[in-house]
Amino acid sequence: MNVLLTGGTGNLGSRLLIPLVRRGDRVVIFDLNDQPFIPSEEFDQCKIIKGDLTDRDAVVGAVQNEKIDSIFHLGAILSAQAENERDRAWTINMEGIRNTLEAARLGGVKKFIFSSTLATYGAGLPSPLDIDSPMWPASLYGVTKVAGELLGVYYHHRFGLDFRAIRFPSVIAPRGMLGGAGRFTSEVFLEAVNNGAYEFYLRPDSSIPIVYIADAIKSFLLIHDAPEENLTRRSYNIHARGVTPGELETVVKARLPHVKITYNPEPLQTAMVDSWPHALDDHHAREDWGWQETYDLDRMADEVIATLQNEQDSTHE
Ligand SMILES: NC(=O)c1ccc[n+]([C@@H]2O[C@H](COP(=O)([O-])OP(=O)(O)OC[C@H]3O[C@@H](n4cnc5c(N)ncnc54)[C@H](O)[C@@H]3O)[C@@H](O)[C@H]2O)c1
Repeated sequence: MNVLLTGGTGNLGSRLLIPLVRRGDRVVIFDLNDQPFIPSEEFDQCKIIKGDLTDRDAVVGAVQNEKIDSIFHLGAILSAQAENERDRAWTINMEGIRNTLEAARLGGVKKFIFSSTLATYGAGLPSPLDIDSPMWPASLYGVTKVAGELLGVYYHHRFGLDFRAIRFPSVIAPRGMLGGAGRFTSEVFLEAVNNGAYEFYLRPDSSIPIVYIADAIKSFLLIHDAPEENLTRRSYNIHARGVTPGELETVVKARLPHVKITYNPEPLQTAMVDSWPHALDDHHAREDWGWQETYDLDRMADEVIATLQNEQDSTHE
């Protein structure tokens, strides 16, 4: 199968391509950047098209010339960067999905998987959060992702495109910095391993929903491969658990007792995290396509710390 992976050199994309290549898919990456966030043998087997999602002809050309069967659309500007570069984020996120959906229609693409976000919901909602809660996002990033989902569902109804979206919570990954108020979930591990200290900008009990990156990658494959007749909707939430800075301090110190953890709550970011739900209702993903997290907090911490320590060892060799 020929797969187009937009944003394929990024944090999630450079990991998603690995299982796709291993199972025999021919992966074509479309990205502004041609250097992978995570280098791999599998990355070297992908075709790289260095291009801009705002260039309709380039996206249409890639889909048609490469005879693409499935698209994973990950290319985007993320939350904090979007607030700092609103015009650029609007153009890339909105034109990006519009051009990619149009290219899918023109190229007869069979499946289209869209990487959406918990940030499509606004503040002050109950926890656990029902999937059909109102979507009035508080960020520009969230606005563009709601629009992307709506446009994808329109292409499904109007043109029969098999559009599927996952709304991810904060994805924990080694060096997986979000640049937003949820970045502490990955940042604490990086700073603990590299510098032996971390200061949370939140209270110990501020809570955020998370998923580990390996499980996030698994969810992309599950939703892609699910038979269409099993789908009861087009957009799904996934969720592994909620986590607080206090819980992260415990798992970090259990492995790295020397690490110094402090708290200096910053009002704006604390208020933002407090407004997010602690848990999401993801039973539709579990029932329709077998979503199930495989990492608990301990396994996640073991793997993130080991990965960062290996990277540190290899840079010191
Ligand atoms: N990381 C998370 O916690 C998280 C959570 C929810 C949703 N998501 C979504 O998952 C997707 C991937 O996230 P990530 O963490 O890998 O982000 P990332 O920033 O690492 O990757 C995004 C990629 O998109 C590319 N890109 C940006 N503008 C482009 C353009 N105009 N043309 C072509 N390529 C362009 C970038 O070069 C980059 O490689 C995004 O759509 C993001 O919104 C991520």
